[in-house]
Amino acid sequence: MRIAMIGTGYVGLVSGACIADFGHQVTCVDKEASKIDALNAGEIPIYEPGLKELVASNVRQERLSFTTSLTDGLKGAAAVFIAVGTPSRRGDGHADLSYVYGAAREIAAELKGFTVIITKSTVPVGTGDEVERIIRDLRRDVDIAVVSNPEFLREGAAIHDFKHPDRIVIGIEDERAKNVMTEIYRPLFLNQAPMLYTGRRTAELIKYAANAFLATKITFINEIADLCEKVGADVQEVARGIGLDNRIGPKFLHAGPGFGGSCFPKDVRALIKTAQDYDVPMRILEAVDSVNDTRKRAMARKVSAAFAGVLRGKTVAILGLTFKPNTDDMREAPSIPLIMALQDMGAKVRVHDPVGMQQAKQVLADVAYCEGPYDCVEDADAAVIVTEWEQFRALDFDRLKELMACPVIVDLRNIYRPEDMKRQGFAYTCVGRSSAFQPATVYVPSGQQVRPSAQSAAAVPRD
Ligand SMILES: NC(=O)c1ccc[n+]([C@@H]2O[C@H](COP(=O)([O-])OP(=O)(O)OC[C@H]3O[C@@H](n4cnc5c(N)ncnc54)[C@H](O)[C@@H]3O)[C@@H](O)[C@H]2O)c1
Repeated sequence: MRIAMIGTGYVGLVSGACIADFGHQVTCVDKEASKIDALNAGEIPIYEPGLKELVASNVRQERLSFTTSLTDGLKGAAAVFIAVGTPSRRGDGHADLSYVYGAAREIAAELKGFTVIITKSTVPVGTGDEVERIIRDLRRDVDIAVVSNPEFLREGAAIHDFKHPDRIVIGIEDERAKNVMTEIYRPLFLNQAPMLYTGRRTAELIKYAANAFLATKITFINEIADLCEKVGADVQEVARGIGLDNRIGPKFLHAGPGFGGSCFPKDVRALIKTAQDYDVPMRILEAVDSVNDTRKRAMARKVSAAFAGVLRGKTVAILGLTFKPNTDDMREAPSIPLIMALQDMGAKVRVHDPVGMQQAKQVLADVAYCEGPYDCVEDADAAVIVTEWEQFRALDFDRLKELMACPVIVDLRNIYRPEDMKRQGFAYTCVGRSSAFQPATVYVPSGQQVRPSAQSAAAVPRD
């Protein structure tokens, strides 16, 4: 089947490459000429494990191509996916649907015979109705079916997720679209991936409900982590203790600096807005949004606590910038508000990320970009692990101690064990583990007077 993919970002490129790999003929279209030029030159504009090879192999076998021309992309296409961005609208948090509606108008101009238009972007309930209205208003002569097919892939594991989905959700209002959708996903269907056919509005809501639920789960365990720190409990064990309950499950119960990324924050906000429009306030999600928002910046206090609340003049090394490992995506990464808070407190910030530095340079100013973790911690008063990249899981502690001005580690992903860190001679703070909740050590440069804060029990002058 000939398929057009409108929007060649994370979702469009991965979906296009995977669908081509199923055996279909896919043309990925994007407005950004530099992106298409790079793809045509064999370069991948994003970091996603395995994607380069998958794209190359399908391009070689002439099943996958890239163009900036929607007219070329739509030639002979029986199905057209819309995979453009739906960011938060500036000002009110609603999903900005201008790219989706823009794409719908452009598609309308090119339609010939019966075509299935599939919204893969995450869009609020009713968007499919509006896409259909826009196209029908512009082209009363053409026959279309508008389908909702939300995407659930995770960045960093996108190809695996696309090819081994927990389910494929397809919202249709026109039975004719069913055959086309079944044909597109036939290889997955044969692997028995559950295909869930629903109404179009239901499919649209399933995507938001899924993301909002996962964001709630993370926020819940983050608040439990805060309580653990106060009452002398260990959030890792609490998470395991509740996660072993099949009704709860172990995933998305990792306490940390708060969720970020290109989806959860904006999708939670968009669902809140949709619900408000229908006069069904979502109090739980309102709390999730605001708790998560405050949390990222508040993580800076974990760093300042090691210095009696005084960070002015200190150098902080940030290990990991992207919102999670195995991606270069910096959208709404917790590292951004954390670094800003550290800078507001007067700290100098050095940073390192294995693949995200290029993207980070567009959003983070006044930080020193370092080539590797050891370069980053040189002369730093504290190192903060913000993203749990594999590279940071087995750091050479002797080398760290030699390089750092103070042996202070703030581990916002709980990748190390407090007892090990203590044995290694580090002042170690993590998230929600009381075993690391020793009275905060206050590092005072020789000759400088610092009054310990309420949380700090001891001032240890540095030798
Ligand atoms: N990134 C994820 O992990 C993920 C996962 C599931 C769902 N989603 C959803 O998928 C959608 C796309 O997300 P993304 O992360 O791929 O976005 P993205 O910003 O990486 O890519 C969107 C692309 O669409 C292009 N575009 C916009 N208008 C266009 C037009 N009229 N014609 C051609 N190209 C156009 C842009 O140039 C851009 O390259 C969003 O709704 C998002 O919420 C994302």
